[in-house]
Amino acid sequence: MAPSVLVIGAGGAFGRPLIEEFIKQKSLFSRVGILSDPAKVSKFSDFKAQGIEVISGSFLDPKPYEGFEVVVSVVGNSIMRLQPAMVEAAITAGVRHFYPSEFGSDVGQESLRTFRYLRDKRVTRDHLAAKAKEHPDFYYTLMLTGIFTEWTADPFYNVDVVAHTATPYGYPDKPLHVTSIPDIARYTVESILLPLTPDVQKREIRVVGEKTTFQKFIDDLGEVQEVKYKLTYLDPTEAAAKQREAWIRGDEAAELTWSVKPMAASGVALVPGQLDNDKFSFRPESVKDTMKRLYGQ
Ligand SMILES: NC(=O)c1ccc[n+]([C@@H]2O[C@H](COP(=O)([O-])OP(=O)(O)OC[C@H]3O[C@@H](n4cnc5c(N)ncnc54)[C@H](OP(=O)(O)O)[C@@H]3O)[C@@H](O)[C@H]2O)c1
Repeated sequence: MAPSVLVIGAGGAFGRPLIEEFIKQKSLFSRVGILSDPAKVSKFSDFKAQGIEVISGSFLDPKPYEGFEVVVSVVGNSIMRLQPAMVEAAITAGVRHFYPSEFGSDVGQESLRTFRYLRDKRVTRDHLAAKAKEHPDFYYTLMLTGIFTEWTADPFYNVDVVAHTATPYGYPDKPLHVTSIPDIARYTVESILLPLTPDVQKREIRVVGEKTTFQKFIDDLGEVQEVKYKLTYLDPTEAAAKQREAWIRGDEAAELTWSVKPMAASGVALVPGQLDNDKFSFRPESVKDTMKRLYGQ
């Protein structure tokens, strides 16, 4: 039977492209819903007009989750710490398959064990594992994708696509795994249709558009733009010092920002292990494909 899916955080940077992919594949689902804060339902009117249900309610209340089999959370970092409560509400309502808001590097890597930015993703994973023990019919899927390709060429990582400069914290040759946003959306939607393995309650989907390095990424970007980038690598310990200063003054937003600044060029933005790309019928964009789509002539 075609699954029913409820998405939390659908109006965000990744949520919108994800819903656009659900719209393309809507005939394969019995229901696709968006859980919306009652004050924000109007922001989803475009999706509603295209057949997506908008369920008004709180993500902490079981009621809006009722009748859905699968929940996909794409909530942003500022409410990531509330995900365990969302899992509780969903399970109480009868949801039996939960996708937490992952969509990045594998936070289970030893090198990311104390990485501040990913703390609430790790806590959510622990909570899901505990709930799976309590409920043998409860499954969860972790989408592991590396950094969004589009977001790697971003001022956040000190890349200026107009001035053609990049000053990342990190090193030129550290490995970097990236996947484009439309491909991550497609992998996520199609993964819901892949059969689960009975009794294997934790499923990891490891998909990567391209395994590269920061230097190669910038070289590819420059080639597409037909320019040579001026690249200067900054010492990641400088970012760590700024992160600590932010923590001391209690500025959580700055602490998070400084913790993640060195991610792209430090060799931790990775999806290690066997990839699942070949479980899907399409080939993902390479870095050059994505850069051509964004910056090609
Ligand atoms: N790998 C990468 O490079 C990369 C890059 C970006 C994001 N990601 C991951 O993708 C996932 C989604 O990230 P995103 O950037 O799309 O998130 P986002 O745009 O910051 O937020 C997504 C949604 O979360 C809800 N939300 C956020 N802050 C809220 C608040 N204070 N109160 C109530 N609701 C709030 C909103 O839902 P409504 O729309 O319902 O209002 C918002 O649209 C995360 O796991 C993130 O780490 C990965």
